Amino acid sequence: MKLSDNKATISFSNGSPSFEMPVYQGSIGPDVIDIRKLYGQTGMFTYDPGFLSTASCQSAITYIDGDKGELLYRGYPIEQLATSCDFMDTCHLLMYGDLPSVQKKKDFTHLVTNHTMVHDQMQYFMRGFRRDAHPMAVLTGLVGGLSAFYHDSTDINNPEHRDIAAIRLIAKMPTLVAMAYKYSIGQPYMYPQNNLSYAGNFLHMMFGTPCEDYKVNPVLEKALDRIFILHADHEQNASTSTVRLCGSSGTNPFAAIAAGVACLWGPAHGGANEACLNMLGDIQAKGGVEKVGEFISQVKDKNSGVKLMGFGHRVYKNYDPRAKLMQETCNEVLKELGLENDPLFKLAKALEKIALEDDYFVSRKLYPNVDFYSGIVQRAIGIPVKLFTGIFAMARTVGWIAQLNEMIADPEYKIGRPRQLFTGSVRRDVPPVNKR
Ligand code: SDX
Repeated sequence: MKLSDNKATISFSNGSPSFEMPVYQGSIGPDVIDIRKLYGQTGMFTYDPGFLSTASCQSAITYIDGDKGELLYRGYPIEQLATSCDFMDTCHLLMYGDLPSVQKKKDFTHLVTNHTMVHDQMQYFMRGFRRDAHPMAVLTGLVGGLSAFYHDSTDINNPEHRDIAAIRLIAKMPTLVAMAYKYSIGQPYMYPQNNLSYAGNFLHMMFGTPCEDYKVNPVLEKALDRIFILHADHEQNASTSTVRLCGSSGTNPFAAIAAGVACLWGPAHGGANEACLNMLGDIQAKGGVEKVGEFISQVKDKNSGVKLMGFGHRVYKNYDPRAKLMQETCNEVLKELGLENDPLFKLAKALEKIALEDDYFVSRKLYPNVDFYSGIVQRAIGIPVKLFTGIFAMARTVGWIAQLNEMIADPEYKIGRPRQLFTGSVRRDVPPVNKR
């Protein structure tokens, strides 16, 4: 970042001395006002719950222009990455800053492929869970549990540890997600197959059985690979900020990523794809497209507490570019599977059309986000609804670890420790119990 010749001055109407703050510029996007010395100079904090106007860090990984509906990974537009690259290209790009050459891609893919197995004792964690446990509960436990095995890559301040932990996490997440699925349906775990692609191997571990050869469907393999690319990183979203804050204490990378998994689970964040599909299912059960008007009225009624899941975004005030690409993938997968008349896809498109013509959504700049169509694709592939967020976590692991490593590699980083505006009771003495 570079110092701008512009400065910010804060002055107070009560005559307190004004205070000047430096302004910094990035390569693109909004400038920032450096308030680090504000408290020391004025005895005041800034106040920004939800961080609507706060940059928590500087980063060179992902850039979003919410008004344009633009998403760049290390400068490359998501539209080009989703059509000209695969997830291994994207992982290399996010981790190391550029797309790999042919040889580097071969080496990177080989490295990831050869770390897809998990310690055999990991399977004993599973026995502690009920078979009907939510996969995100299982995944939160398993990812944190990785730190109980890989002691040779837990020192976040050791660059070699950081690198191998990153590879292990990217490589093992699909194995853990597939294990959670197999455990929930009482089928044996499928070991990774090194001759398959990242997405192909995941499909095999999910839907293969020891009883017969599993043939990877290339259309589904490509669709899943695109889903991974679209979900790989997204600037300082809630789960990435969680990973950064958790990692800032110096904890090991597996624990920090487990915190990200837990945060992503929420329906306002990564859990929205599961919530969106459940929403579509509810509308379908009540009568489908002819019930859309009634549902939209419910959403617009503040007292209903009903939201149009898969719509709206803190940053995008235009169409989420990932939603457009996901809709394309939807068409390809449904066509391949002969599901062009999938009622939920038709319902989603009808819902989107009506919402985008309704002033409630238009005036609030609410557009479909990545979660609006991703559930329909995953359901068509055969992934159970409860596992959708697990797929999101699997894809987002590379973004989380790239952001965590970027923070730790910055010599200026400090442990994150926000302050507060205190509105509780001022000092008072404990009364004797017979006086309470
Ligand atoms: C992801 O941050 C990221 O980058 C996240 C993510 C990533 O890749 O990491 O992109 C992934 O989490 C996508 C978002 C998935 N969540 C959902 O689809 C859940 C539904 N969306 C909403 O919960 C909401 O839009 C949020 C949480 C996504 C954003 O909320 P904000 O920015 O805090 O906006 P807000 O709640 O202040 O909403 C502004 C207005 C409000 O109305 P008013 O009070 O002004 O009258 O818009 C309304 C909200 O009530 N609104 C919605 C709505 N989203 C916002 N109304 C109905 N349906 C919705 N979905």
